Amino acid sequence: MKEKPLRLHKYIEEVRRINLGSRKTYQIRTFGCQMNENDSEKIAGVLEEMGYLAASDNEIPDFILFNTCCVRENAEQKVFGHLGVLKKQKEKKESLIIALCGCMMQQAGTLDKIKKSYRHADIVYGTNKSHLLPQYLYTLLTTGQKQYFAEPVDQEIIEGQPVKRESSIKAYVPIMYGCNNFCSYCVVPLVRGRERSRKKDDIINEINSLVAEGTKEVTLLGQNVNSYDSDGDFTELLYLIDRQCDIKRIRFMTSHPKDISSRLIQAIHDIDKVCNHLHLPLQSGSTKVLSEMNRKYDKDRYLAIISEAKQMVPEIGLSTDIIVGFPGETDDDFEDTLDVLEKCEFDFAYTFLYSKRRGTPAASRKDQITKEVKGERFEKLLEKQNSITLKKNLSFVGSTVKVLVEGASKTDKEILTGRDEANKIINFKGSPDLIGEIVNVKITSAKTWHLEGETNENI
Ligand code: 5AD
Ligand code: SF4
Repeated sequence: MKEKPLRLHKYIEEVRRINLGSRKTYQIRTFGCQMNENDSEKIAGVLEEMGYLAASDNEIPDFILFNTCCVRENAEQKVFGHLGVLKKQKEKKESLIIALCGCMMQQAGTLDKIKKSYRHADIVYGTNKSHLLPQYLYTLLTTGQKQYFAEPVDQEIIEGQPVKRESSIKAYVPIMYGCNNFCSYCVVPLVRGRERSRKKDDIINEINSLVAEGTKEVTLLGQNVNSYDSDGDFTELLYLIDRQCDIKRIRFMTSHPKDISSRLIQAIHDIDKVCNHLHLPLQSGSTKVLSEMNRKYDKDRYLAIISEAKQMVPEIGLSTDIIVGFPGETDDDFEDTLDVLEKCEFDFAYTFLYSKRRGTPAASRKDQITKEVKGERFEKLLEKQNSITLKKNLSFVGSTVKVLVEGASKTDKEILTGRDEANKIINFKGSPDLIGEIVNVKITSAKTWHLEGETNENI
């Protein structure tokens, strides 16, 4: 049954009342993608409404939450590893409340494992349920009963949750949730449910309130942003945001090649606010592997999209995701991936070793690739991409780019850091007054992971 906001508000008030007069602290550890980061900002928002303060690094908090990811096995292992350590902390501080939420909790078998081996967890719930955290917390605090929930993925979108943003300069704005694509290696559709889009008005209102608070850049988020569908498609949404929001910069991720249209590329070109950057996961360069991955495009189509994007927006920054060692991947298939890498010349690639995920079709294939072969291919891929990234970065030396200044370096307060439209990290000397501004920076040198430059805008 759908909870009424008023009832939820009551739980927030009740927990706040319980906490009144004592200093209660929280800590959130986020694993995985930007969607999880945004969910954690909402959880922080509701915790602060309930009277919790962010814990400092040298104290054991009163409430600790792991927002988990299960896209690859190593993310899961990390959570169980950290959970083991928390047992010791709970022995030191008996009142510590341990909560687990997110994708991993939505997987069959995880809750049983927690019940059996990690009984020190107090609250467990899956994706899309953080608005119920006040109720879980209240029930735990008043009855002492563990709150364990492993329910089917909830399809409804909850609007109006408080958000405690990590940055005052840039913000994530989810525009759609879930995924309908069922790529054969991927667990996301199983743990995040079917695609559902937020209403345009809700998105516009959120961006406008961010603008009023001084935010300069929004990143529109979704597992598959360009399949956004709510009284218009994603391209229309971009034009609408352009018309109705005074935001300086718009980014979006992740796009799926099957849903890229010429209209969308044209919009990147036409709308000044939309950054010249496209994150377009390739996953594999082999048409055979792409078909087995259920990606719904082939090598030639992917190359055609990239060439159209480069033609229409010559200064576009390109990034991608690549999986190495999908079951049945031959040396020739891998060569196709290297070939696409060379032809596209991505500015950056996130590279992953294929990881078997319970419940996905690829996991039950008999032709899994050995660890050694995966490792060798991964190293080759990384080496090739790093040299492409460095070559592309070097080509920027001498040019001037627009940088949104995000902050100062942790080690040297005089060094400012930010990103250009293509999403490259740029470091340069400047006054802290420039933080939050978009400034022209002339690139003076290039490394693999960042560029260095100088500006005269603070003189
Ligand atoms: N193994 C390795 N990488 C994966 N990804 C998704 N599922 C898996 C898996 N089972 C990668 C894809 C996706 C990114 C977010 O994670 O490249 O684009
Ligand atoms: Fe996973 Fe494919 Fe959906 Fe991306 S598009 S979340 S890789 S199923």
